[in-house]
Amino acid sequence: MVILKLPEEIEKARASNRIVAEVLSRLRDKVKPGVKTKDLDKFAEEIAEKRGARPAFKGYHGYPHSLCISINEVVVHGMPSDRVLQEGDIVGLDFGVCYQGFYGDATITLPVGRVTDKALRLMQVTEQSLYTGIEQAVNGNRLGDISAAVQKVVEDAGYSVVRDFVGHGIGKNLHEEPQVPNFGQRGRGIELKRGMILAIEPMVNEGHYKVQIQPDGWTVVTKDGSLSAHFEHSIAITDNGPDILSKLS
Ligand code: MF3
Ligand code: CO
Repeated sequence: MVILKLPEEIEKARASNRIVAEVLSRLRDKVKPGVKTKDLDKFAEEIAEKRGARPAFKGYHGYPHSLCISINEVVVHGMPSDRVLQEGDIVGLDFGVCYQGFYGDATITLPVGRVTDKALRLMQVTEQSLYTGIEQAVNGNRLGDISAAVQKVVEDAGYSVVRDFVGHGIGKNLHEEPQVPNFGQRGRGIELKRGMILAIEPMVNEGHYKVQIQPDGWTVVTKDGSLSAHFEHSIAITDNGPDILSKLS
């Protein structure tokens, strides 16, 4: 069942996503060669705590950290560790909180120092696919309009869309219906309605879309070892079109 949100509930979700956006924008300033990934996790946790928010991922299905940090060929759910960021890496930072009963969730992928033009283009196309998908998140459209729009941007650029992980509804739960795939057909799927909040999150591989999970049970990597990028926003569907709740300042 898709849960529609009242305007006042959307405002609560906005407050939660504002904290997520603040954390990501402050992490953006921390990402540089030499930084230990578990220090980024600690920093994110501290800001959330200061704002009175609970990190959403910690303990979720047993996930042991607050932030997901996905470097290079890691697609999603990379874990903070003693690993240090290196010049030329690209790093996905995925963060969520629960604040006053509502969840927020967003992801950015950043370059560490100078990166190749190839890596930059992958990140740019992935972010563009997210914004093109968001444009389709309007009352009366179909879910497949979002999915197809994301997929077209990605595939026109010569990349592939991960199939095994998808976006989701979000609200009083981190994951709600509907699932929001980044591939599909225009005009298909459920009708989009005002009051829906969706986390749209394209995961884009430079090579093949196949992924595999590492022995730690979490880290998802591209099967062919190619680079992968990930961007995510939580958006509300309103009478005035899509409202990006997790916009970075
Ligand atoms: N943004 C991801 C998602 O919505 C993060 C979940 S990580 C987990 O699925 F650790 F919480 F599973
Ligand atoms: Co998500």
